[in-house]
Amino acid sequence: MNDFMKKFSLEGKKAIITGGAHGLDYGIAEGFRDAGAEIVLMDINEKVHEAAASLSRPETPVYGVVGDVSDKASLEKAYAECLEKLGGRVDILVNGAGIQYRSLAEDFPEDMFRKILDVNLVGLFLMSQLAGRTMLQQGYGRIINIASLSSFFGASMIAGYTASKGGVAQLTKVLSTEWAGRGVNVNAIAPGYMKTELTADIETKNPEQYKSVITRIPKGRWGSAEDLKGITVFLASDASEYITGTVILVDGGYAVK
Ligand SMILES: NC(=O)c1ccc[n+]([C@@H]2O[C@H](COP(=O)([O-])OP(=O)(O)OC[C@H]3O[C@@H](n4cnc5c(N)ncnc54)[C@H](O)[C@@H]3O)[C@@H](O)[C@H]2O)c1
Repeated sequence: MNDFMKKFSLEGKKAIITGGAHGLDYGIAEGFRDAGAEIVLMDINEKVHEAAASLSRPETPVYGVVGDVSDKASLEKAYAECLEKLGGRVDILVNGAGIQYRSLAEDFPEDMFRKILDVNLVGLFLMSQLAGRTMLQQGYGRIINIASLSSFFGASMIAGYTASKGGVAQLTKVLSTEWAGRGVNVNAIAPGYMKTELTADIETKNPEQYKSVITRIPKGRWGSAEDLKGITVFLASDASEYITGTVILVDGGYAVK
């Protein structure tokens, strides 16, 4: 590999990915593993251990840690465990853990609204704080937040989710301005309509919406975890040194049609 291509490699880098037990975050972890990173997946779901074992390779180990990003004590304990597994260093954090709930705004249950903000926004902030402190001490770090198309749109039926993802986009900008000068880049990706368990019910429960989404996407299909690998490896790598505070759409062109 020549010196230029080495900038795109994650060899020797240590990463924490929240929400990696399945779905998009698992796919992102697969990309990081193939780019050479050592990884800890942190997820509320015990299946994170299975997921980590399935990704792990002798030269790029992947570990699983159980933790709840919406519970500060659990998060702090899990972060300490992640750090221990990575030998005290973390170069990359992907804040991927997220939940959703569908309801008309007028019926939206308050407890669900609060829970979604706790996981998708407050949990993301607290995790960024913990990893950010380590990264600032190192003088190096890359944080990648998973925002959404709904960071930009007033997506109906998902008031809690949309509010949280709008917050994620804004928080990405705040953290980047505070930390850019100290070696820590903070960016977000905003996936469009991606096929995962989170969205699986749209195809069966609302086939009309499923099809109408496709007609709106210039690329002509829903996205998948595979589509997030390139951009996340790039943002996690040294090749993206001068990029911070951005929210990059990965939506097959949906937003511009
Ligand atoms: N699927 C899409 O179309 C889409 C689009 C845009 C953004 N996103 C975002 O991508 C991320 C991954 O979504 P996905 O579609 O893969 O969903 P998913 O449900 O497959 O994965 C989410 C993961 O987060 C974990 N998680 C949930 N609550 C947690 C908590 N309190 N603490 C720790 N982990 C927790 C889950 O166990 C799961 O492994 C989310 O942030 C989601 O909002 C998804």
